[in-house]
Amino acid sequence: MLSASDIVKKYISFFEARGHKQIANAPLVPINDPTTLFTSSGMQPLVPYLLGEKHQQGTRLVNIQNSFRAQDIEEVGDNRHTTFFRMMGNWSLGDYFKKEQLPWIFEFLTDKEVGLGLDPKRLYVTVFAGNNQIPKDTESIEIWKEVFSKAGIDAKEGERIFSYDVEKNWWSRSGVPEKMPTGEPGGPDSEVFYDFEDESIHTKSPWKNDSCHVNCDCGRYIEIANSVFMQYQKQPDGSFKELPKRNVDFGGGLERFLLVTEHQQDVFQTSLFSPIIKKIEEITSSPYGKSTNAMRIIADHLVAAVFIINAGVEPSKTEQGYILRRLIRRSYDNIMKLHGENILPTYRIFEAIVEQYKNTDPELVKNYEKIKNTILEEANTYKITVSRAKKFIDTKYKKTGDELMGVKEISAEDAFTLYTTQGLSPAQIESLGYSFDKQAFAQKMEEHQKISKAGADKKFRGGLADHSERTIMGHTATHLLHQALRDVLGKQVHQTGSNITTERVRFDFNYDKRLTDVQIKQVEDIVNQKIKANLPVHFELIDTKEAHKMGAIGLFMDTYGDKSKIYFIGPSTSSGLKKEDAYSIEFCGGPHVDFTGVLKSVKIIRQENLGKNQKRIYAIVQGN
Ligand code: ALA
Repeated sequence: MLSASDIVKKYISFFEARGHKQIANAPLVPINDPTTLFTSSGMQPLVPYLLGEKHQQGTRLVNIQNSFRAQDIEEVGDNRHTTFFRMMGNWSLGDYFKKEQLPWIFEFLTDKEVGLGLDPKRLYVTVFAGNNQIPKDTESIEIWKEVFSKAGIDAKEGERIFSYDVEKNWWSRSGVPEKMPTGEPGGPDSEVFYDFEDESIHTKSPWKNDSCHVNCDCGRYIEIANSVFMQYQKQPDGSFKELPKRNVDFGGGLERFLLVTEHQQDVFQTSLFSPIIKKIEEITSSPYGKSTNAMRIIADHLVAAVFIINAGVEPSKTEQGYILRRLIRRSYDNIMKLHGENILPTYRIFEAIVEQYKNTDPELVKNYEKIKNTILEEANTYKITVSRAKKFIDTKYKKTGDELMGVKEISAEDAFTLYTTQGLSPAQIESLGYSFDKQAFAQKMEEHQKISKAGADKKFRGGLADHSERTIMGHTATHLLHQALRDVLGKQVHQTGSNITTERVRFDFNYDKRLTDVQIKQVEDIVNQKIKANLPVHFELIDTKEAHKMGAIGLFMDTYGDKSKIYFIGPSTSSGLKKEDAYSIEFCGGPHVDFTGVLKSVKIIRQENLGKNQKRIYAIVQGN
């Protein structure tokens, strides 16, 4: 039986044998990409190349990308959804297209020697049905017919090959064509589904008496592979233009490949997850069969939390830190349901997680203590939060004399306050013994979500691949700020995030105290002095180990094989100094200004406390 790491090895070798170069797994928290909080697909770090920029490693790429989809949090609990997953990807950057991609994927899925050895009879495929702008993908239909016929299957449309509209067979980062912002690439896709049907499943399956089709969510079929034909770009008038080159963007979840290889209907029962579930059963002394939903949530959320902490995030009130906090707290809500309030022994769940993932992600072992401590500390913070919430309610209701016997009825308003200020979920509020009007709470929640969604949409539009002059200047300013903060506060300081808009630069870093006015002034002075010196900015591809030796800082590693893209600020050309003496040496994908003198000045306008050991500053960058 193939293990998860066997599948990874096979996938990479399969595509390497077909001329692909393996690219690095990009950081889970993208640096200098304001469009999203987490890397959620393999194509995300490749957007500039899909739009036409030349990639250093050529036109055929392959990788395994750690991905996190916060939007799937609520789906977790069923048999197939996980928030954290590993996407196996291959790309053609204007190189091969449908007639190579579709047969290759079929070969990988069905061949016993070089692939997964799935039974071709269990595979069904879908293509784009066309709309008033983009034609039906008849080319893929013909290719699929031929591919299946070679496997001895007469694949007819409506029996084995199905067409769907934009909702199902169009892919872009923002979904259907009408939701795509101007400039966004996307295209029709072709998906492969695996049919679980067999006698035993058939009898208990919920789809049995319903109308079922390959792309419905009843559970009989599961999507395992998605080849996106990334060939269009959204125009300001809403139409689509062909990109300069036609690309392929393929993604398939490793967890799902494992699921179908093991012919297992429950992702949490595969060889990857079952040892984690076993550990949860052992610790909580309850069987999976009785608490399936809760255990799936615990397992998924803690795996995601482990990887997010590993990416340098700490629990906090905003953005990535907030998502991490929700994941840990939600898993604790469920742990407490099964195990009561003694949460300390549960760190053994992390041991099982690290054990399962350490082959493919060895840095989890290196960061083990940090991961464990972060989760345990957050658990303690959570306990304090819960007692604060109790106090808030007690004080409030005692005052008004509304305290009831036993269960305390509280207003939906107050329940919502607990949700937004203390991060307590409705389930948690209930389990504290407070009942409240659920309907009114749900309404408040919906309003709240609409507001945050509007904010997120705006952010997505605002930040999309904005390589305007101002953001490029902002980008160089973050390198200067990063180094200057280290000069003033010490070398232990490093960047944990950043976000650049045309209005300002936001920079997050680890530091435990509030910066004094003097320190802020010192940082500004250094940065402005480097701007005045008009230092040259350039990049080189350098052996990654060599770059570390040189003291290169930064999280984002634009890595090409064993080489990384390194940006140098300084030294000045007339100084006679070597590049090793540059003021700032940083791993980065760019782009940057050519000389610091393109900037006029940088002014820090605000600082925020993001949580323990996490600070954020905002700065205005003036251009010349
Ligand atoms: N980018 C495509 C996806 O995420 C392959 O499904």
